[in-house]
Amino acid sequence: ARIRHYKWEVKYEYKSPDCYKKLMITINGRSPGPTIMAQQNDTIIVELKNSLLTENVAIHWHGIRQIGTPWFDGAEGVTQCPIVPGDTFVYKYVVDRPGTFLYHAHYGMQRVAGLYGSIRVALPDGESEPFSYDYDQSVILQDWYHKSTYEQATGLSSIPFGWVGEPQSLLIQGRGRFDCSTPGIEAGLCNATNPECSPYVITVVPGKTYRLRISSLTGLSALSFEIEGHNMTVVATDGHYVEPFVVKNLFIYSGETYSVLIKTDQDPSRNYWASSTVVSRNRTTPNGLAIFNYYPNHPRKSPPTVPPPGPAWNDSAPRVAQSLAIKARQGYIYPPPQTSDRVIVLLNTQNKFNGYFRWSVNNVSYNLPHTPYLIALKENLKHVFDQTPPPTGYDTLNYDIYSPPPNPNVTTSNSIYRLQFNSVVDIVLQNANSLSNHTSETHPWHLHGHNFWVMGYGVGKYDMVNDPKKYNLVDPIMKNTVPVHPYGWTALRFQADNPGVWAFHCHIESHFYMGMGVVFEEGIEKVGKLPTSIMGCGDTKGFHRP
Ligand code: C2O
Ligand code: CU
Repeated sequence: ARIRHYKWEVKYEYKSPDCYKKLMITINGRSPGPTIMAQQNDTIIVELKNSLLTENVAIHWHGIRQIGTPWFDGAEGVTQCPIVPGDTFVYKYVVDRPGTFLYHAHYGMQRVAGLYGSIRVALPDGESEPFSYDYDQSVILQDWYHKSTYEQATGLSSIPFGWVGEPQSLLIQGRGRFDCSTPGIEAGLCNATNPECSPYVITVVPGKTYRLRISSLTGLSALSFEIEGHNMTVVATDGHYVEPFVVKNLFIYSGETYSVLIKTDQDPSRNYWASSTVVSRNRTTPNGLAIFNYYPNHPRKSPPTVPPPGPAWNDSAPRVAQSLAIKARQGYIYPPPQTSDRVIVLLNTQNKFNGYFRWSVNNVSYNLPHTPYLIALKENLKHVFDQTPPPTGYDTLNYDIYSPPPNPNVTTSNSIYRLQFNSVVDIVLQNANSLSNHTSETHPWHLHGHNFWVMGYGVGKYDMVNDPKKYNLVDPIMKNTVPVHPYGWTALRFQADNPGVWAFHCHIESHFYMGMGVVFEEGIEKVGKLPTSIMGCGDTKGFHRP
């Protein structure tokens, strides 16, 4: 195994990723940031210099379990203090599994300002994937807002409420296209001929097989991705091999990664559209477009066809069907424990707290403490967060998931779930109606520090007696991010075997910001000595930085 050393400078720069000029956060001048390329069991060292001038930062390595290094998970408030302007922080961790992973800011709502990128971990020398391909390429999908994260965060935490709204554009590998002739756009801010917003080009050679690693780090949107005229064979997700299945369009939620194989077997005399489309919300955002360029056609030559319109936004049946189709690949099955030690049911609702709009689980909306849990627990600082455990369920008998919450007022808390070390935990995510009638959104839930087995999905209210009998105990996929579909439930199982403190939250940036998350602790007594570099905030001020 090798050491991969990266030096990153994070700063604000004016960029025009969709032709509209705004301040965005870059790493070494780029967004998406540099791809981390490694092999299984390599050590990654990222020396991160915060040059944001007036803003803190922290970076999470999404999908990396941080075994033995829970303090480098990068979740501000959970595992570390924020990195203050001017400081350099060194992340150091091992990538212990092959696959496609992500990294992104985990402080405030910075992720949507462009601070993200991908991590590609190859197999060790001499080992090979259970499928073959000629070329390997990564594509990150994103949605893009013209308002700054400050305007967004301020609106979300104000009365009256200022909703972030639908994104202005969709980006494919950091490039999109906003219509500069939109009324009300200030002259000079939008330039349709800026090369920064020319469409992303995927150049392919006819007659080959391409592995495309598609990931989503959208702030809000659930997406459908397709390449006009080409089928995609899904072969991996979140670092786990999938029993292959073919799709025309891939549904993908924020925080997920998929590998698909594409054969370049279509008419080679033209180019094709690669397109992302918003689903699950009544879309007003135009499709994101890239060019699937058959060599030797000119890479900037627009395809002769109209871009594919994408699936109907409000039809959740094909999305549930795709979720159900994802199984572990034969020969690569990690059988799940057949029973669990504990079941936690998490009701997902939109509510209010003192007049503020919030998202909550089991009627508790989550707040981050000022002192990171990892330090508080390790150093026994009991007063910094609420020690009462949060509720492990809701009123399943009487709660009507098809209506807005009868009591829209919730409480807020920063209390956490403490798990028995090594125990097997079942989580049931129960979706419900939001505050508006006939509305239930899709929430992609992401777990730090673990991969979980996806035991089942269902429509309607989860039945504690009969639904567990339908769990997939044979070949469930392991993932780190999973959707809970509108008015549905999703059940997952994991082993609490990674000493540390781990966030579990909706990956929609504004939902997490508005309280849609929880935190798990396990085996804190097994956590090694904390590096002082993670300290310095809240009640850890006494623990000096070096
Ligand atoms: Cu990718 Cu806690 O998030
Ligand atoms: Cu959500």
